[in-house]
Amino acid sequence: MSEALTLLERKHPDKASEVIFESLIGIDQQKDELVSTILFLFDKDRIKKWQHKHHRDGLVFVERVVAETPLVILSGEVGCGKSALANSVGTPVAKELKKRLTCFETPSDVRGGGRVGELSARVTSAFQQVTARIKGDDLGLLIIDEADDLATSRSQNQAHHEDRAGLNVLVKQIDAIARVKVNLVVILITNRVSVLDPAIIRRASVHLTFKRPNDQERRKVFEYLFTGTKLRDNEIEKLVEESRREPVPFSYSDLINRVAKQAVFRAVHFDKSFSPTIYLEVLKDVIPSPLIE
Ligand SMILES: Nc1ncnc2c1ncn2[C@@H]1O[C@H](COP(=O)(O)OP(=O)(O)OP(=O)(O)O)[C@@H](O)[C@H]1O
Ligand SMILES: [Mg+2]
Repeated sequence: MSEALTLLERKHPDKASEVIFESLIGIDQQKDELVSTILFLFDKDRIKKWQHKHHRDGLVFVERVVAETPLVILSGEVGCGKSALANSVGTPVAKELKKRLTCFETPSDVRGGGRVGELSARVTSAFQQVTARIKGDDLGLLIIDEADDLATSRSQNQAHHEDRAGLNVLVKQIDAIARVKVNLVVILITNRVSVLDPAIIRRASVHLTFKRPNDQERRKVFEYLFTGTKLRDNEIEKLVEESRREPVPFSYSDLINRVAKQAVFRAVHFDKSFSPTIYLEVLKDVIPSPLIE
């Protein structure tokens, strides 16, 4: 049975991740919450010291908080920065804790070829590889992206026996990290939170959701995109208005990767400056990426 599974690996802190993390716009709340949750999950001594200082006789509730399962869920709309955030968050965390952090990511073919027992074996293999590779005091993040298939509810009628077994193994492995002394946090990413199994959702220390940008968030996107150009007073407002779409708004990726990149190509081609006019010319022909059911 081929259950070999190759995890993608990236060391943090690293300059490229820092640039990506800093360039994520409009999702400041998710960024802050993700960093502070991961810091908390890695740095249990901090809460013990805090408890010793403020609640010397013990605070019953704290025991429960300290025993949190090191699982974070990111869910929501396509093209809003879930994967980019998960892959870059290791850098601010490693810097803050002054430690080395390795980020592992399961490949998109995590399910393998679908042979009996293969999914379970591959999930087990992912956790075994990761725990073996985190040495001593180092930190690890395991990203399970596009987790919809893997963590689909056991109660869904179409859930296949193989998938249920895979999910059981995933739940077991996540529980095991909380017990063994390994500095690992798991980040599970999905578009369709509605299909996630309650056993997974219940275990998450934090569940962050991502939405397409509203007016205020699009304003931030345009302020970023047009940094370095000279804009007239109302031009940002005009961009905000003209990029408003209902009922399916543009995603961050639509506005930045589809429209702005194309507008730059066009500006270079026609030897013009990158301006709101050229941006809006491209925008008018772009349809927002479809919503996930
Ligand atoms: N909030 C954001 N700020 C700046 N750029 C963004 C943002 N969200 C997405 N992008 C851009 O779009 C690209 C794709 O985003 P990403 O893959 O992180 O989205 P996602 O939420 O994981 O989407 P999917 O659900 O389709 O996997 C990013 O690499 C980045 O270039
Ligand atoms: Mg993604």
